[in-house]
Amino acid sequence: MSQNYLAKHYSKLILPLKPEVLTDQENAHIQTLLPEYGKILDVGCGSGRHLIPLAKMGYQLVGVEISSEMSQQLLTEMPEAKLFSGNINSKELRIELLSDYQNYFDLIILMWNTLNELAYNENELADLLEFLSSLVTPTGKVLIQLDQNVITAPEVLNFETTYAEGENKFTYISKLISWDQQQHISICAEKLITQDETVTGEVTQKWWSFAEVSTHKDILEITLI
Ligand SMILES: C[S@@+](CC[C@H](N)C(=O)[O-])C[C@H]1O[C@@H](n2cnc3c(N)ncnc32)[C@H](O)[C@@H]1O
Repeated sequence: MSQNYLAKHYSKLILPLKPEVLTDQENAHIQTLLPEYGKILDVGCGSGRHLIPLAKMGYQLVGVEISSEMSQQLLTEMPEAKLFSGNINSKELRIELLSDYQNYFDLIILMWNTLNELAYNENELADLLEFLSSLVTPTGKVLIQLDQNVITAPEVLNFETTYAEGENKFTYISKLISWDQQQHISICAEKLITQDETVTGEVTQKWWSFAEVSTHKDILEITLI
């Protein structure tokens, strides 16, 4: 989901997979992990599904998002949002974040399988979690939301969804083209069809299990979806 080609139609095609009521439930859970007006870093914040409503509730939000189109969508809706548009794994962005936010956040959130796009092996996972732990306060937490269904049933990555708005119809097709049983790595072919265009692309994800991630740090709180 990291590519701009998807970002272009993200709000119409992908977000309907996460109805507002679900986002509200997720935000309610996030709030239980925070002090009043706590500070949150939303890594892979997308177009702001959590960042925008939580910021409106009075929490202090900082977002990181690699997709420039997704970042643009977020800033269009909330021009005053504090957003780093870049790669959380890049040296430059890490230096920037550390200089402003070392031991700063009460909570870091990686929602809707974002972790799966950020770390593809144990070393990358350890490196990322080490970095994130340097940004939270000594009592801070990292919330990682993972979809465990995929590990037991990778075929759930084959799906098609259609969203209609007036005369316009949008279709999103995800097809599993390979599955690495040992590593839990998927490659999916994706196709987006709108009235005007059809775009295709491939997405690779490493589907981390709860056990794999939770053994790394004691600061983690992992939510299954
Ligand atoms: C599965 S989406 C989740 C979006 C949002 N958190 C939500 O719950 O709706 C993963 C997001 O992470 C972003 N992303 C992927 N790799 C990234 C990276 N290396 N650095 C920052 N963001 C990244 C993608 O562009 C995408 O917006």
